[in-house]
Amino acid sequence: MSASILPSPLRAHGHDLVDRINDLKRRHDALILAHNYQIGEVQDVADFVGDSLELSRHAAATKHPVIVFCGVHFMAETAKVLSPSKTVLVPDLAAGCPMSDMITPEEVRRLRSLHPGAVVVTYVNSSAAVKAESDICCTSANAVRIVESIPAHKKIIFLPDQFLGEFVQRKTGRSLILYSGFCPTHVRIMASDIYRERKAHPDALVIAHPECPAPVAECADVVASTSRMASEVKASGKKEVIVGTELGMIHRLSRENPEKTFIPACQSCDCANMKVNSLEKILWALEDMAPEITLPPEVIEGARGALDRMLATG
Ligand code: 13P
Ligand code: SF4
Repeated sequence: MSASILPSPLRAHGHDLVDRINDLKRRHDALILAHNYQIGEVQDVADFVGDSLELSRHAAATKHPVIVFCGVHFMAETAKVLSPSKTVLVPDLAAGCPMSDMITPEEVRRLRSLHPGAVVVTYVNSSAAVKAESDICCTSANAVRIVESIPAHKKIIFLPDQFLGEFVQRKTGRSLILYSGFCPTHVRIMASDIYRERKAHPDALVIAHPECPAPVAECADVVASTSRMASEVKASGKKEVIVGTELGMIHRLSRENPEKTFIPACQSCDCANMKVNSLEKILWALEDMAPEITLPPEVIEGARGALDRMLATG
């Protein structure tokens, strides 16, 4: 069998794979975006690595005709909604987000009918169809600002993450109508994990994501989006950091702070969906120009309103 008819992963390894991705990227004028939880080699081949808000802003602003989105499905959908004329590719369509699957457009309509006049604030960890039923979106980076921007007399339905919602309630003093969604990865972190690691590393900085249940968030020094975690760690004089979020975050933190030690609060805080993307699948996506994210025009239009209002507010 000649090498030329072997499938690409058998021909391309390591640097070779990265070279071929970069070649195809140039040929298609593509931009590779990666979330902070992606595996290290995917983060390293990306043009930009960030949190959901930063990735949305990049997707909205890019001049590149092709975006390869390395994250989970709702993030790539958001890129498509914000840049509908662009081709948005994903390495693997199976990379979903169980939290986003916990809420449906029908459920949003049912909640609206139960609470007439309430403003629906929806976390970006939701499908484009759910966003299209919402008034405004938020991410973990701007949820507090978005809720604060809503007049105090208005009732607010906050979807779908109950723990981010509780965090926003504590920060703003507003009472929100919460939903029962949650992140199956972040609920694995327990307050006892933080106590144990604090005891072992008494001088460490403790960072946690607001998707963590309240007892974890309440005992962390910093509760923030993934990219704000990165800036807080950089700014901190602490040499040890206890990390209360998905394990992929440690790659970026270690790359940016080689002199610091990172201790995962919980070894099983691993989002399987974030981990299905690989260099091979990025290469195949650029070779085949597939899988591509497509959405009905009415969903794009509906979701765009809620996302544009978020980007304009914070
Ligand atoms: P960030 O927006 O903070 O990066 O979080 C996204 C996410 O899915 C966390 O589980
Ligand atoms: Fe969804 Fe949780 Fe994975 Fe984030 S970490 S993508 S919220 S399942």
